[in-house]
Amino acid sequence: MNFWEQTYLVSPAEFFVTDDRSAVLETYLGSCVGVTLYDSVVKVGGLAHIVLPSGDQKREAVSPGKYATSAIPLLIERMLDLGAVKGRMVAKMAGGAAIYKNFSLDIGRRNAVKVKEILRQEGIPILGEDVGGNFGRVLRLKIENGEISLRQIGRGLREASSPTAVRGVEFKDIVKEIDHIEPLPKTVRQALTLIDEDSADSQELKGIIYKDQALTADVLKICNSAYYGFTRRISNLGHAIALLGLKTIKKILLSLSLKNILFQKIPSYSLGKGEMFKHALACGLTAELMARELGHDNDSEKIFTAALLHDIGKIILDLVAFDRFGLIMDKVVKEGRSFLSAEKEILGLTHAQVGAMIARQWNLPLVLIEAIGYHHEPEKAQAAPEAVAIVHVADVICSMLGIGGGVDGLVNPVHPGALSLLALDAKAVENIIEGLPEVMKQTEPIEAG
Ligand SMILES: [Fe+2]
Ligand SMILES: [Fe+2]
Repeated sequence: MNFWEQTYLVSPAEFFVTDDRSAVLETYLGSCVGVTLYDSVVKVGGLAHIVLPSGDQKREAVSPGKYATSAIPLLIERMLDLGAVKGRMVAKMAGGAAIYKNFSLDIGRRNAVKVKEILRQEGIPILGEDVGGNFGRVLRLKIENGEISLRQIGRGLREASSPTAVRGVEFKDIVKEIDHIEPLPKTVRQALTLIDEDSADSQELKGIIYKDQALTADVLKICNSAYYGFTRRISNLGHAIALLGLKTIKKILLSLSLKNILFQKIPSYSLGKGEMFKHALACGLTAELMARELGHDNDSEKIFTAALLHDIGKIILDLVAFDRFGLIMDKVVKEGRSFLSAEKEILGLTHAQVGAMIARQWNLPLVLIEAIGYHHEPEKAQAAPEAVAIVHVADVICSMLGIGGGVDGLVNPVHPGALSLLALDAKAVENIIEGLPEVMKQTEPIEAG
């Protein structure tokens, strides 16, 4: 990247058009399709991250960037506003992966077909495409010259240098690294005790936040963000708790206090800085939404927290086994194995098992230990099978939409038993996907905070 470049991340259901020559537009894709349009004469370009092929009139009016049928005409319109000429526009597209065949949703293929149909109707030629497959992609468009770069997630490690000797990870190395992320900051420990629904009141919560000045400032900044849309400035915590409610403040507090741990980059899993945190937050919010809709209101905070922490074991395995991830990807790519089974074979244990070890060390409730430990194998859950199934499905959906799942996000299967346990059919899953871009808006102030 050049120092004068400015990268704009285009989230699911969003589009961005600009004539700023220093701009680079970037998006992460799973089953979604990324479409770029470019006019090389005036150097105007745009990128849309399309989630679904089409919606009804009302839905397309509310969230036009979400659907191919409404996003592409709008992208063209905004390009024309900036001086582009339709006859000079060219398109490139990527994504539309068939990530989870047993979801029987076929969204990726349907997205790609619809995008091509609309571009054909608009008379815009497609000069390049990379669609299908069962892996994610990162698509970038440089406005300066219209150059496209595309990175496939889950394939790039194939050529990584593979050590000749294979052995499992030493258990003592894992325990040592878990000890290193201890002691947790006091605020995190206190925040984690608050996930037990009835044990916290607003005074207790205020007490925890007040002791940490930076945290107080961050919580207030989030409460004053555009997302919550208050007309008057909120300047004290009591006021913030009264307006947003205890549950929302607890959620913000938990997310912020775990941000330091979850924000780091995790190269072994191809997670750049901030990507794990984005994925964790998205999974937390999706799982919480599902919990409420499926009648698990009482457990929704625990389920949110479990989903927030589900991949935390990756941090440890990245530290103790980074030299063995080439071998894992070899098994995934050459033998068509799931990431989890390859991880287990090469390392002797999985990031989910390591996550459960951390949860146990932190004395988290059993629901969290199970949900973290079995988030890829929900059929093994015994204490809280539905909570585990919710975290599992939320993880799969977020990965499918390309929200920071990392290298393994797209090569771990969805468990059909979890869908039937939760009585989720293809339509219900599609409804959750439809609502996800709105859910994701909640993450923006927390990520920026
Ligand atoms: Fe995972
Ligand atoms: Fe995950």
